[in-house]
Amino acid sequence: MKEQMHADVERIMLTEAEMQARIKEIAGKLDLIYKDKNPVMVCILKGSIVFFSDLIRNMSAKMELDFMSVSSYGAGTTSGELKIKQDLRTNIEGRDVLVVEDIIDSGNTLYALKKLLNDRKPASLNIITLLDKPERRVAPIVPDYTCFVIEDEFVIGYGLDYAEQYRNLPYVGVLKRSVYEK
Ligand code: IMP
Ligand code: MG
Repeated sequence: MKEQMHADVERIMLTEAEMQARIKEIAGKLDLIYKDKNPVMVCILKGSIVFFSDLIRNMSAKMELDFMSVSSYGAGTTSGELKIKQDLRTNIEGRDVLVVEDIIDSGNTLYALKKLLNDRKPASLNIITLLDKPERRVAPIVPDYTCFVIEDEFVIGYGLDYAEQYRNLPYVGVLKRSVYEK
C-alpha cells in the first residue's frame, strides 16, 4: 500500500513537479548537443529507470536506448572492481554515449564503469545524473550534467531503493532513520 511507503518518508526532498521542470530544462540542452548524433542513451539499472524514461520522453533528438546493470565491489575502498550483471547489447565504438545515472555517491561505480566503457572507444562518453551527493565522493568523478545536488542523506523514490523497496514512490524522499536502524 502506498500509505505504508509514505509513512516511512521523513520528508519530501524533491517533488514530482520540481523534477519534471528540471528534467525538461536539461533535456532541451541535451537535444541541442545530441542533435544529429543518434546517441546511445544508457540506462543504469535499476535505479535510473524512472529518470531515464522521463528524460528520453522530454528529448526529441533521434536516439537509441540500451541498458546495463552493474555493481561495484568494496565501496569506499580501492578502485575499479566492477561486476557487470547485464552488459550493453550495442557496440558503442565510434558512438556518442550518454550514461544516465540515478545518484552519484562515492563515485566508485561510475569511475569503474567509465573506464570500462572508454575502453570500447566511443566517440564521446558523458554522464548525466539525477542526483549528486558531492560530500561523499571518494573517486574522482564529476558528472557532465547534474539535475540536483543534494545533502548527504539517504534518499528513496523515483527509482531509488532501500532494500529494493520504494522505487515506485513518485517523488524523492528522505528515508526515516527508524526504518534502517531497527
Ligand atoms: P557509488 O558507487 O557510491 O557512487 O554508488 C552509487 C549507487 O549507490 C547508486 O547507483 C545507488 O544505487 C546507491 N545509492 C547511493 N546513495 C543512495 C541513496 O541515498 N539512496 C539510494 N541509493 C543510493
Ligand atoms: Mg544504483
